[in-house]
Amino acid sequence: MRIQKDELWTEAKLKDLIRAKLGENALFVVSNREPYMHIINQVTGETKCVRPASGVVTAIDPVMRACGGTWVAHGSANADKKFVNSKNKLGVPPDDNRYILKRVWLSKEEEEGYYYGFSNEGLWPLCHTTHTRPIFRETDWQMYKKVNQKFAESILEELPSKNPFIFIQDYHFTPLGRMIKEKRPDATIALFWHIPWPNPEVFSICPYQKEILDGMLGCDLIGFHVQNHCNNFLDTVNRLLESRVDTEKFSVNRRGKETFVRSFPISVDGKITDESFSSKQEDLDLIRKELELEGKIVAVGVDRIDYTKGIIERILAIDRFFEKYPQYKNKFVFIQLAAPSRTHIKRYHDLMGEIDELIEKKNWKHSDGNWQPIIYLKKHFSPEEIAPYYELADICIVSSLHDGMNLVAKEYIAAKTDLNGVLVLSEFTGAARELLEAIKINPYSIEEFADSIKLAIEMPQGEKSKRMEKMRNIIKENNIYRWAANIIIELTGLKKAV
Ligand code: F6P
Repeated sequence: MRIQKDELWTEAKLKDLIRAKLGENALFVVSNREPYMHIINQVTGETKCVRPASGVVTAIDPVMRACGGTWVAHGSANADKKFVNSKNKLGVPPDDNRYILKRVWLSKEEEEGYYYGFSNEGLWPLCHTTHTRPIFRETDWQMYKKVNQKFAESILEELPSKNPFIFIQDYHFTPLGRMIKEKRPDATIALFWHIPWPNPEVFSICPYQKEILDGMLGCDLIGFHVQNHCNNFLDTVNRLLESRVDTEKFSVNRRGKETFVRSFPISVDGKITDESFSSKQEDLDLIRKELELEGKIVAVGVDRIDYTKGIIERILAIDRFFEKYPQYKNKFVFIQLAAPSRTHIKRYHDLMGEIDELIEKKNWKHSDGNWQPIIYLKKHFSPEEIAPYYELADICIVSSLHDGMNLVAKEYIAAKTDLNGVLVLSEFTGAARELLEAIKINPYSIEEFADSIKLAIEMPQGEKSKRMEKMRNIIKENNIYRWAANIIIELTGLKKAV
């Protein structure tokens, strides 16, 4: 089965496909980050259910809502234990149970070694070309493998007796595919890598390179966002592991097992033909009033506070923009929505301080008492809270130094029902390969970045609409349902071939 290029994919269509292809076999998804977190405010005692700032959650939650099944993830929030049954499970979304979330509990030591240590101080900087040095500690690696084993056991408990389908998310789980296969060779397993894959020279500094690659090759299918990352992965395997890489089939054979490598550019749910993205007028008015945006040109950035996102470079570019084009003082405002992330890691903790300091300095430099150029809103925002900012923003700035895809770029486009917006987009994101009508920037080139902001502001309305319409059509077609359908078709095709 092949998906036609202009075929429109919907939640209902994906549901039918899953039923036809997987039958009674539910889908099992595994990720580190859980899609719903129960957080208790220690002071007020109030508990709320929060959707975390995560590309994985943005993308996979609509798929799971469509197809049902079980999502296994780390129960990391402080009230999570209160909301599960005796099997550590609960139905989600909380108000409309569409699928099951199974929470895996980790001790502080496990979280430290597996999540903060090996995943985010080791693999994360290794795979992103941002010149942050990866740290590899033997203790972290051992803990990473132990936690992967724990997840494997948690999943194995759930699997039906025959032919389960398991969909693993991301770099937290390189050994997991092999661990599951050892116990359940009948399982079909895909791993989707949500971040970039580096070239062999870069990857070869990792002391655990062989075990990592071997673990990943326990899966039947490995997906990346873009072809370049597939090529890097195959080059890496070719160079570092005893195996046979088939460049025609895009597969790797190791010890008699074949693993296929494919690109599947991830997306948002792209319901952009209806009004689902329109915020309430009073929400928009309130933000405009509170932040004094009336009559101003507004740009927005929406990020986790992460050194890969190019937030420092963005502030420097805005500073340079006001230096070069002072006529825009009092007329242009940049709003940064920033969710604190991985703050337990020194590099992230330091970055928060650097950003605070830089924004304070630049606001002081340019502001005149009534107006300040940068509004910095540092907290977790829910998707519903982010939506009005996308709607009122004339410009959205995505300046990642390196990014697998970047779904903020796509969410912004999906939100611009009136076609009145410009996307300024780093050429180092996966999204830049698809969103050709965005204004491309090299975030390291502050001069060019500053000029691109001017270009975005001064772009004629007709040109803006034309570009936005083209990008919206791309997202409408290549939505998250098509992404999932492509993976399911590929995966079930493999099953037959085995
Ligand atoms: O997309 C990469 C990723 O690490 C996801 O796996 C993760 O959910 C997201 O970024 C946010 O990071 P974290 O879960 O560490 O807060």
